[in-house]
Amino acid sequence: MSDPRDAALLTELGPAFLERLRAWMAAGRAGEGPVLARRDPLALGERWPGRFDERVAAGETGPRALALLEAALDAATHLHHRRYVGHQVATPLPLAALFELVGALLNNGMAVYEMGQLQTVCERGVVRWMADELGLGPAAGGLFTSGGSLGNLTALLAARQARTGSWGGGSNGARLALLVSEESHYSVARAAQVMGWGKGGVVRVPTDAAHRMDVAQLPARLAAARKQRREVVCVVASACSTATGAFDPLEPIADFCAEHGLWLHVDGAHGATHALSRRHRDVLRGVERADSVVWDAHKLMQMPALSTAVLFREERHALESFAQEARYLFEDDTLQWDGGRRTVECTKRGMALTLYAALHAHGAGPFRDYLDTVVDLAHAFADELEAAPDFELCTRPETNIVCFRHVPRGVAAGELDALQAELRRRVVDSGAYYLVQTRRREGLFLRTTLMNSATTLDDLRGLLEALRGAAREL
Ligand SMILES: Cc1ncc(COP(=O)(O)O)c(C=O)c1O
Repeated sequence: MSDPRDAALLTELGPAFLERLRAWMAAGRAGEGPVLARRDPLALGERWPGRFDERVAAGETGPRALALLEAALDAATHLHHRRYVGHQVATPLPLAALFELVGALLNNGMAVYEMGQLQTVCERGVVRWMADELGLGPAAGGLFTSGGSLGNLTALLAARQARTGSWGGGSNGARLALLVSEESHYSVARAAQVMGWGKGGVVRVPTDAAHRMDVAQLPARLAAARKQRREVVCVVASACSTATGAFDPLEPIADFCAEHGLWLHVDGAHGATHALSRRHRDVLRGVERADSVVWDAHKLMQMPALSTAVLFREERHALESFAQEARYLFEDDTLQWDGGRRTVECTKRGMALTLYAALHAHGAGPFRDYLDTVVDLAHAFADELEAAPDFELCTRPETNIVCFRHVPRGVAAGELDALQAELRRRVVDSGAYYLVQTRRREGLFLRTTLMNSATTLDDLRGLLEALRGAAREL
């Protein structure tokens, strides 16, 4: 039996793991192999059951670990594959993966400063840098947390505390509410439910033809909510929406919030990375006026999930989301450095150290280049779709999300939805591409998110050919 705690295991197995991962990533970027090979869950479960030997012979540990790695790669949706154009999940940088390994072994939990000293300092540094990129000003600050959903909840808890001071007293009997577009991510409505605001606590604002919040509707929605005796705390703007990548117009929304004394929260889980762009920053005009912004680094900053910044224009709000006392943990003199005061998590992964490492070792430039590359590609793909008579673009892309549908001649309008679903199924089953679908008010659309900097316009032309081919076979 080998000793599971022997540090030598790192160098005994490490090189083989790293070489296998390198080859797998390189093959994906070169377009080799399937993007996804569908595996039957029951067959997988039979091969990998929840039964374990009591002891394993010394010589078997390495082969067993490598066999499981092989199985994981075989069953993986290959995000590094150049023809992966599905969900908005990052293609993580190799250096980020290495620092995740560092974080896993150090396992410094960050709730209190002394349990994550460099992690805490790097988190503050990255937060400062992100706030500056957004233009939030010198008083800004924030925190990292485990995902955009938790980030939205954290920001909205701060909004509630700042506007009503209701921590510890529930909602003080008030019926609170937020205004948000009907295209917003479901985590916003979920956060309102978690806070006990009930169904009426989420007031939906209709969207315009481009799927952006229709700002002209805000006054009427606010008045209607107030008539229902709801105290509206904030407006949540999407930057951008998940389904089509539409950016709500932040400047007029900020004007509205200023006029009515409302907190402005910007859900920039996907789109806040546009702040780094040289060519595509305009979509965020007005973000510097937000009270809080959520920014997922595990989307357009190529970090492994989960890695989310919650940024406040005034740092003091970073301590308001969880304004309870936990004296056994937090000493007053270290208050400002103890991460656990700011987050749902007590123990937390050192996610910002990973992002800091990539920025430190590669520089900020490659992050700007990446954003511009994938968004430029989305524009080129949209041009291609507009020029093709048998494809219909949903809306002009503002980010790297492009939605469209195949409209071959002779297919009745009533059959278009079923056609898209069937084409997607066939193309994904073939392993050639991975894409998803989204329901719009106009019908069902195919949805691509161009996450991989190795993807080319030719790959996307190939996708259209694959869809045409699948349609011909029906
Ligand atoms: C706009 C938006 N907000 C929030 C989220 C939730 O983020 P996470 O998956 O990191 O919880 C997403 C996820 O896709 C999103 O697109």
